[in-house]
Amino acid sequence: MGYFEIEGPVRLEGDVEVSGAKNASLPILAASIISDSKIRLENIPDLLDVRTMMDILRSVGMKVSFSSGKVEISPPVSPNTDVPYELVRKMRASFNVLGPLVAKYGKAKVALPGGCSIGVRPVDFHIEGLKKMGFDIEIEHGFVVAKRRKVRDARITLPKSSVGATEHLMTTAAVLDGVEVVIENAAMEPEVVDLQEFLRKLGADVEGAGTSIVRVQGGVKSSEAYHKVIPDRIEAGTYAIAIAATRGKGTIRNMLPEHLNSLWEFLEKSGVNLEIGRDLVKVSMSERPKPLSIDVTPYPGFPTDLQPQMMAFLSVAKGTSHIRENVFHARFLHVDELRRMGAKIELSDSTAIIEGVQKLSGAPVNGTDLRATAALVIAAFMAEGKSEIHHVEHIFRGYESVIEKFGKLGGSIRYTEVNEYED
Ligand code: UD1
Repeated sequence: MGYFEIEGPVRLEGDVEVSGAKNASLPILAASIISDSKIRLENIPDLLDVRTMMDILRSVGMKVSFSSGKVEISPPVSPNTDVPYELVRKMRASFNVLGPLVAKYGKAKVALPGGCSIGVRPVDFHIEGLKKMGFDIEIEHGFVVAKRRKVRDARITLPKSSVGATEHLMTTAAVLDGVEVVIENAAMEPEVVDLQEFLRKLGADVEGAGTSIVRVQGGVKSSEAYHKVIPDRIEAGTYAIAIAATRGKGTIRNMLPEHLNSLWEFLEKSGVNLEIGRDLVKVSMSERPKPLSIDVTPYPGFPTDLQPQMMAFLSVAKGTSHIRENVFHARFLHVDELRRMGAKIELSDSTAIIEGVQKLSGAPVNGTDLRATAALVIAAFMAEGKSEIHHVEHIFRGYESVIEKFGKLGGSIRYTEVNEYED
């Protein structure tokens, strides 16, 4: 628990280095369960969510060491396949250990992930997919209990291109020797491609990641593996938007610009100057943005994980913008908070209508989830006067060294930890 104090307006200027991708690290850590040998990972960000996943692996009995972005993992001597509710409750992605555990050890019991502040996020696609591969799945007292009986070839068509379900089913299928699993309407996100690279290093025959059809021929070889995860495109995008929103000038380094083509397109349309290099992007902006109409869709469309930050940016556009959220229809908790800072935003179904104002004004606001909190930090740098962002701990789930990185850009954040329950 804690809050940030930010005095605005601030023009963010300078360089920022992007960390390894949270959303690639989590499924890759979960997939390390299927290996019989030692695994070394690099470029793993030090984040609360990553630490939770490591605690889950430890609860299974695996040895995990983590220092300066490097992780070493060894398989368990006597595996425990019951994952405690306490760990699953903290993070939805922890559910993705169910398939690897049951496929490798024959049984698993993992708590059902609860609701989440950005709306109901069910796991029905995951469960249906596992059933299609032949696993027995029962839901008992809030836990999913899975058993491996006779596994079989499967063709699974996801009703929606879910990132988590694609990754979970790919990893599970990778264990199943002699079985072929085809996932249709698979998510095409770069993190799915990175997981495919990792599963190949474990010996599984996986192809198609990055397209809508992923094919897995199961079978893991017993050999040590090394993998370096891709840079975090959402972290990179957040800093790019922050620099543009504060009419600053800066360079985002150590990133893969091709993972954010939809963002660059929209930023350029709104008047931001971009220089796109091989592994860096230079961003500068000197005026109020032009308004935009954005449809948030799965990759390669505009990412839902940058929707709140983009809304902060557009809140001072010269005209009215529209953002339609097609991935998480209820992902609008930041709207009320941005309004407290003077933004003029109306909601109509899953569309936010943002009437640009001259400027925002600092206010006390509440962080409600990871990306909403990032949006409020951006808004606080844009706004005139002091903002206090409460419940700011969400940001530490997804942004490594966030105070230091904004500090390097000239954006000072004062963090006060609050030990007692605030409200
Ligand atoms: C992942 C990302 C998250 C991102 C999201 C969408 C990780 C750890 N998290 O979350 O940052 O915001 O992708 O890009 O990688 N759905 C179902 N049933 C299911 C599974 C999903 O109905 O069984 C629905 C969801 O409610 C949502 C849509 O499918 O509407 C996409 O969700 P999904 O891609 O699964 O999100 P996550 O993998 O949880």
